[in-house]
Amino acid sequence: MAPLRKKLKILVTVMMVNLFIFILITRNSGQDKNGRHKVVIPSKPFWTKLLPQAAYWNRQQQVINFHNNPILQVNATPVELPGWLNDSSLTSDSCQPNYQVTTQVKDYNSLPDRFKDFLLYMRCRSYPIIVDQPDVCKEPPFLLLAVKSLAPHFDRRQAIRQSWGRAGVTANQTVVTVFLLGNTTAGDHHPDLSGMLRYESARHRDIVQWDFRDSFFNLTVKEVLFLEWIQTRCAGARFIFKGDDDVFVNTRRILDFLKGLSEPKAKDLFVGDVITNAGPHRDKKVKYFIPESMYVGTYPPYAGGGGYLYSGDVAARLHNVSQNVALYPIDDVYTGMCLRKLGLAPEKHKGFRTFNIEEKYRSNPCAYKSLMLVHPRTPQEMIQIWSWLSNPSLTCQ
Ligand SMILES: *[C@@H]1O[C@H](CO)[C@@H](O)[C@H](O)[C@H]1NC(C)=O
Ligand SMILES: *[C@@H]1O[C@H](CO)[C@@H](O)[C@H](O)[C@H]1NC(C)=O
Ligand SMILES: *[C@@H]1O[C@H](CO)[C@@H](O)[C@H](O)[C@H]1NC(C)=O
Ligand SMILES: *[C@@H]1O[C@H](CO)[C@@H](O)[C@H](O)[C@H]1NC(C)=O
Ligand SMILES: *[C@@H]1O[C@H](CO)[C@@H](O)[C@H](O)[C@H]1NC(C)=O
Repeated sequence: MAPLRKKLKILVTVMMVNLFIFILITRNSGQDKNGRHKVVIPSKPFWTKLLPQAAYWNRQQQVINFHNNPILQVNATPVELPGWLNDSSLTSDSCQPNYQVTTQVKDYNSLPDRFKDFLLYMRCRSYPIIVDQPDVCKEPPFLLLAVKSLAPHFDRRQAIRQSWGRAGVTANQTVVTVFLLGNTTAGDHHPDLSGMLRYESARHRDIVQWDFRDSFFNLTVKEVLFLEWIQTRCAGARFIFKGDDDVFVNTRRILDFLKGLSEPKAKDLFVGDVITNAGPHRDKKVKYFIPESMYVGTYPPYAGGGGYLYSGDVAARLHNVSQNVALYPIDDVYTGMCLRKLGLAPEKHKGFRTFNIEEKYRSNPCAYKSLMLVHPRTPQEMIQIWSWLSNPSLTCQ
């Protein structure tokens, strides 16, 4: 019986301690209720000093956040700012090359050229529009399809027009398609395609082009210009799909999905192939490589740039908030950064297959029926899949 007695003893002790704690807590909270407890006023600052981060993007964002902090806007007591914060040129939209980066980014000279180009023009967000479609949304569409394309991709654009991007009325809803282009420049040894683009634009009236160099790292510029364009030219669009020109989109499936959304769900909609817990690649050979001198930290959840879907309401909020987020060289991550600042989380939908579907299903028409997006697909494949899905005699279980 000795072990039992021992257990009993422990139990009684534990109960006594609990009772003691209980009495202590009730006595203290009783004091709170009577408001007799002493208010401790800190005699020293209890916040930490704002110190500059070593990585350039992070530091830029600190400066932007500092200048937008409503508490610090009160200029009652002007205080001397440390040099790194007192640089209002950093927060202004300036399209002059910023040569300060050559010393502010510690390994600037050893970075690949695309980083040098990006950093020099990181503050610039306004480029002239060369080709516009001011009336494309005269009748506000239910769905705006915006396709990131490059000037020479004539065949991809044509395949999209003949398949999933067919503008007009689909499943009783108005759909408008536009292609988003930068400029291919002679400096990059591109042939002059401007005459052919003029013809294409006059014929189809779906080209939107700005005069900036259409490079991978400038896709974020394309994103902010597009957000601006939506507000000026297509603010009435209910929903927006933005994606690449090498994807197949099941437009009818997307329309069905959108029509089935509840009002609050529709308002905050942002869905795609969401990537979470990612961070910058530190391997120089990877396309998505980002040096430590540029960015430290993890990435917020973001939808892969192959294609994602969001509401016109979210587009307006993104447009607002993007003005306070420093440009980042990877456009889909940048959009994730803007969403995080808005307090929105992109939602993963398994119908977005930016990493393709299993090989054995790729030539099965029924595999596409319930999907929203598959990447990658050639122009011919887009037309083939669209004709499969448009066939009224297609029956899938
Ligand atoms: C910023 O620096 C300039 C000199 O470069 C100085 O005249 C100005 O007072 C500083 N502003 C603040 C808010 O510290
Ligand atoms: C389109 O609308 C008409 C009339 O409202 C309806 O009869 C038809 O079923 C609708 N079609 C689709 C595909 O929703
Ligand atoms: C775009 O690139 C073409 C080809 O290099 C060049 O001629 C043109 O000046 C650039 N800008 C515009 C606004 O077209
Ligand atoms: C982005 O476009 C601007 C304007 O054409 C150009 O000066 C800059 O070098 C481009 N940046 C990159 C990373 O290509
Ligand atoms: C955008 O910002 C302005 C000014 O801060 C605000 O008045 C407006 O309501 C915002 N619009 C949206 C859609 O958040």
